[in-house]
Amino acid sequence: MTQRMWTDVDQYIDNLLIGRDEALDHALEASDKAGLPQINISASQGKFLNLIARVHGARKILEFGTLAGYSTIWLARALPADGKLITLEADPHHAEIAVGNIAAAGLADRVEVKVGKALDTLPTLTGEGPFDLFFIDADKVNNPTYVRWALDHSRPGSVIIVDNVVRSGLVLDAGSTDPSVVGTREVGALLAAEPRLSATMVQTVGNKGYDGFAFVLVDS
Ligand SMILES: C[S@@+](CC[C@H](N)C(=O)[O-])C[C@H]1O[C@@H](n2cnc3c(N)ncnc32)[C@H](O)[C@@H]1O
Repeated sequence: MTQRMWTDVDQYIDNLLIGRDEALDHALEASDKAGLPQINISASQGKFLNLIARVHGARKILEFGTLAGYSTIWLARALPADGKLITLEADPHHAEIAVGNIAAAGLADRVEVKVGKALDTLPTLTGEGPFDLFFIDADKVNNPTYVRWALDHSRPGSVIIVDNVVRSGLVLDAGSTDPSVVGTREVGALLAAEPRLSATMVQTVGNKGYDGFAFVLVDS
């Protein structure tokens, strides 16, 4: 099994079940044109998030890490007309591209892009919760803080999804000094120890390589 095979299978899945999508394709093109890194989730992952949000009946979603708004669009499309998604982005250039992409997707009425480091913008969100769904995909070193914040602004039944928790297997290295690995391992420990949460992690391969996500249910 190789990266080439994973990419080809993702292409097969995209052709079969997703196809061309004007707004999402435009978002990726605008992102590339503006020189943003290609670190968005894949199409099949985006559709998976969309399906989770729909199955869950999510009305309030909080996203950490907007980039060009690709995952934002997938998630916001799952919202009812009076639903709301807040997405946190530290880089003003990324946020500017995202705002354009979200508007082009016809979702400006239900999406708010908050510009600034999440640790600085989170305190401005008191009163917005509880959120039904969280998608955490920003700076991994702060993931433990983000998960704790999410738990504090959730309700029983809320779902927290944390991306990139496998990191090509680097998560196994207990002695790692890579801040992203350290943050990821801390999240794992937190999920294991927190009695109010039920969690699993699922490994993934695809056009974005080998990684995985944590799926967390707030029990109480
Ligand atoms: C992996 S990308 C997000 C990809 C996006 N969720 C998608 O799939 O389309 C991570 C984003 O988090 C942003 N970021 C990094 N540190 C951050 C912080 N402290 N607060 C908020 N956003 C941050 C980066 O600028 C980048 O745009």
